[in-house]
Amino acid sequence: MDEQEDYLGAEFKGIAAELWSHNAGWWQEGFTEGADPEYTEQLLPLVERLVGPGRLILEVGTGEGQVLRHLSRTAPRELLVGVDPTPEQLGLAAERSQGELYLRAEAGSLPFRDACFDTVVACLVFEHVTDLEGALAEVARVLEPGGGFVFLLNHPLFQTPDSGWIDDQVLEEQYWRIGRYLEEKRTVEEVEKGVFIPFVHRPLSRYLNAARACGLVLEEMVEPAPPAGFLALAPEYYEARFVPRLLALHLRRS
Ligand SMILES: C[S@@+](CC[C@H](N)C(=O)[O-])C[C@H]1O[C@@H](n2cnc3c(N)ncnc32)[C@H](O)[C@@H]1O
Repeated sequence: MDEQEDYLGAEFKGIAAELWSHNAGWWQEGFTEGADPEYTEQLLPLVERLVGPGRLILEVGTGEGQVLRHLSRTAPRELLVGVDPTPEQLGLAAERSQGELYLRAEAGSLPFRDACFDTVVACLVFEHVTDLEGALAEVARVLEPGGGFVFLLNHPLFQTPDSGWIDDQVLEEQYWRIGRYLEEKRTVEEVEKGVFIPFVHRPLSRYLNAARACGLVLEEMVEPAPPAGFLALAPEYYEARFVPRLLALHLRRS
């Protein structure tokens, strides 16, 4: 597959659904249950801090449920519900559940009544969602006024298609190259040998303005340095500690 191709909406949605089903095991083995230092050292503690004392919590694109399981252990909650369109993720989420509930649904069509959650979480999901406005409108609809949206993305500036480390042996320079940041594009990227994952790239302003249009207003933005356990995996890239991989937005429903 050509990672430069820009797919049409319906075609991309079909390909994306197949790829998520096909790669569910890859995700579960490599990124959950303590396998990934970015989750254990950074993502899970950050989500926990931003969710705070939330009690009625929905996670959109929940995968096998690691974020909700973490939230269930860290404070008293009344209801934890996760939705995901991928059956292979939901099966394992149900097996691993510590009381959280899981339903099959996608971000653009949430099967809940208006204003029934005080917190919505989306962790590394919206960079795979085609209809940004539709999905954000759904988040705003199911949140009660004053509710919080904890919104984590692969950093849209630094994770643009064609970004990556350049190790220039001649000039003895090492730097992170940024691809075409302003070009919105649907791509299928080979994230490791033989593993193809669908992405939708958009600039940060698209996310913030679309959220603002639904009444989701920025309260805090976090761009953390990669955690120590991640940096230790490739110590030769010293500059990596100055390039954030993650963007966290804490938005509030007005
Ligand atoms: C990178 S995984 C993250 C899973 C989980 N949030 C976590 O942090 O462990 C992305 C998840 O997004 C789901 N996903 C893909 N497209 C989606 C959509 N349109 N709506 C909701 N979830 C989607 C996939 O099935 C997959 O489980």
